[in-house]
Amino acid sequence: MIRINNEWNDYEIIRTGDGYKLEMYSQKYKFLRPDPQVIWKADPSFDFERECDAFYSRNNDGGGLWTSNNQIPEEFFVHWRELTFSLKLMGFKHTGIFPEQAYNWARIIDTIKNSQSNNPSVLNLFAYTGGATAACLLAGASVCHVDAAKSMCERAKRNLNLSGLGLNKVRFIVDDCIKFVEREGNRGKKYDAIIMDPPSFGRGPKGETWKITDQIYELVQKTKKLLSEKPLFFLVNSYTTGLQPTSMKVILDKIYKDIPHDCEAYEIGIQTKEKEVVLPCGASAFMVFK
Ligand SMILES: C[S@@+](CC[C@H](N)C(=O)[O-])C[C@H]1O[C@@H](n2cnc3c(N)ncnc32)[C@H](O)[C@@H]1O
Repeated sequence: MIRINNEWNDYEIIRTGDGYKLEMYSQKYKFLRPDPQVIWKADPSFDFERECDAFYSRNNDGGGLWTSNNQIPEEFFVHWRELTFSLKLMGFKHTGIFPEQAYNWARIIDTIKNSQSNNPSVLNLFAYTGGATAACLLAGASVCHVDAAKSMCERAKRNLNLSGLGLNKVRFIVDDCIKFVEREGNRGKKYDAIIMDPPSFGRGPKGETWKITDQIYELVQKTKKLLSEKPLFFLVNSYTTGLQPTSMKVILDKIYKDIPHDCEAYEIGIQTKEKEVVLPCGASAFMVFK
């Protein structure tokens, strides 16, 4: 069954249809973004473009651009529990947050707290603007936050500072995830938990190529060496269209078949303001070691 988290007060999806979702951030800014899951028709009486403050339209080269109807501030904010996220309109239709990940953040927090482990260490790969990193810190863990983009690490730092979490329990690494995992393996470094949310395609800082369908199995396999003697959990999420949650679970179950664990696969989504529309967003597998 699809999993949703209902703890957002200043983020919501107002309407969906014709390949788009209309979202509201900070209780005031309405943005219209394409969403490949929205394959149903829109209500023809509702004018999406007129209702929004900015919309993202795709161009032919795979990119796109934001067009504003109204003034949008350079930076705006949303909140989840004690966390504050700094957002802005960015390339590739991003705003700096994947709100449906809140389900996974809650699960990370519960798993760390229930483990009663003292200051566990978490490796967060493809860590983006730090949502999962912040969740780990809230639960009392320390984190190694890895992302190819320096700008994403800077934004994660801003989010942690805004959330009052500070930076002293986080190691920020700008690197290619595969290369970093290999190096950490050679150094004998260990972590109590691993999180990864890899994109369909990506690039390391030196142009290293990443393709999820070709490389995810190998990456999960390489991380095995990094797990501590008493590991807590392993979370994999994907937004790749067509990759099912169960495929993530099969990878984890296969690679960790010799270590007792429970692994659950599930879709994550957002309950929109339209009662009948729960928008599916990502595919996750969450493995807890016994
Ligand atoms: C879609 S985001 C992940 C979403 C995020 N974990 C969240 O829940 O909000 C993908 C991130 O992977 C990073 N990335 C892409 N290719 C990479 C690579 N080869 N090594 C490290 N990071 C990479 C990008 O810079 C980007 O920040």
